[in-house]
Amino acid sequence: MTETKEYLPWSESFSVGLQEIDEQHKILIALINRLYYEAILNKADKSTISSILDELIQYTIVHFSVEESLFRIFDYAEGDTHQNQHEQFKKSIINFQRKFENGAQIDIELMSFLRKWLKDHILVNDKKYTSFFLEKGFKSSWSKERSWAGKIWDSITLK
Ligand SMILES: [Fe+2]
Repeated sequence: MTETKEYLPWSESFSVGLQEIDEQHKILIALINRLYYEAILNKADKSTISSILDELIQYTIVHFSVEESLFRIFDYAEGDTHQNQHEQFKKSIINFQRKFENGAQIDIELMSFLRKWLKDHILVNDKKYTSFFLEKGFKSSWSKERSWAGKIWDSITLK
């Protein structure tokens, strides 16, 4: 088997400087790469593609909820604008999923839309919140192994 170059390779330039968020972004990137591999390169059957698409959508929703709850907890001024972007993207992928279930193919246009959207969103919008969260006491090394959600709670209630 030859090594396949990833469609969207992780780059350190994508790091927002918050470990937990980076880990979640890596999972989203991995799902986009899997979708590209199975749908475009491997021309996998519908049920394989369908389950990756489903996982991508479910994980996207979970990840957006995490960011949005941080916006609410820390009262982030740009939270509403950011959340609107999430809503638009969710609508587009759920809409696409419906079309796929009705027979549409996953083509390179869809793949490049997913890749471009995530890249631009991380680099432009997500990177904007880092300094704000750090000022509010969020530690860049918090990740789920270290119960970061609990620590956010402590940092708020101990103030
Ligand atoms: Fe975001």
